[in-house]
Amino acid sequence: MAYELTQELLDEALIIGKAATDRGTVASYIPELAKVDAEDFGICVMQKDGSMLHAGEVNQRFSIQSVSKTIVLAAAISEFGLDKVFTYVKMEPSGDSFNSILKLDLTSNLPYNPYINAGAIQITGLLSKKFKFEDLLDYSKKLCLDDEITLNLPVYESEAATGDRNRAIAYLLKSKDVLHADCDEVTDFYFKMCSLNVSAKSLAGLGAVLANGGVNPITNERLMEAETARIVTTLMFTCGTYDESGEIAVKVGIPAKSGVGGGIVLATKTGMGIGVYGPSLDKKGNSIAGIKALEYISKELHLHTFEY
Ligand code: DON
Repeated sequence: MAYELTQELLDEALIIGKAATDRGTVASYIPELAKVDAEDFGICVMQKDGSMLHAGEVNQRFSIQSVSKTIVLAAAISEFGLDKVFTYVKMEPSGDSFNSILKLDLTSNLPYNPYINAGAIQITGLLSKKFKFEDLLDYSKKLCLDDEITLNLPVYESEAATGDRNRAIAYLLKSKDVLHADCDEVTDFYFKMCSLNVSAKSLAGLGAVLANGGVNPITNERLMEAETARIVTTLMFTCGTYDESGEIAVKVGIPAKSGVGGGIVLATKTGMGIGVYGPSLDKKGNSIAGIKALEYISKELHLHTFEY
């Protein structure tokens, strides 16, 4: 049985999410991120036919942060193939915070997965052999169905000025002979990918492409192989929301990748893409309003992957 998405349902989800914004805090370890309005909240859904429904601040631009790790992974698998990419990074949840360095040093030479900082830095190193930032910017515009994406310069400069932990991760990977590239160039590329200026609408577009097996639902153009989309979304399910991935898999049950800018992209099994913007974050770094609203939407529309 199909459960219909309605404007009323999204409006209700917006109210539920908004009520939670004061229970979180905006990220501040990248100083520029602290300047956003913590009460902002928007949800956009792109349906299988490319039509959109939305509620709240869905045109507000914000930095994509770790949601870009999905684009980086898709680009790397498309260029180098599955086998090669996963000789440099594992496919396992780390259970640690996204910027942790501990297990990488103590228990594993390879990053646990492509969606923690270490994994994305490693994959960015691979990509840097073949691509410039401008190439990945173009690919991001395509995947997000959004030609207006630019580099958010203040966020990029702020992250570059304070990103020593990520530089430490890059140098550790290099010392282990896993990263074979210039550490400063790779982290600069990584900072730029985290600073793409997107909106909830852009993330709904990205989600819709993933939910349609790599095909743009509006033009029917194939943007990545179906297998690539499957891998990107599977890892979103198991590792996409940091060390809260298990809880969100249980409560929301839709593959999701979040970023500390407040964005979340989701791809439903029914072919819908969902984009969220809510910069007030919970303790693990996920949009607090977003998770509340998504729990409601998932339940009402029966979108949980394992609801049989
Ligand atoms: O590297 C950082 O800390 C940020 N640019 C991105 C962090 C984020 O969104 C969550 N990380 N997986």
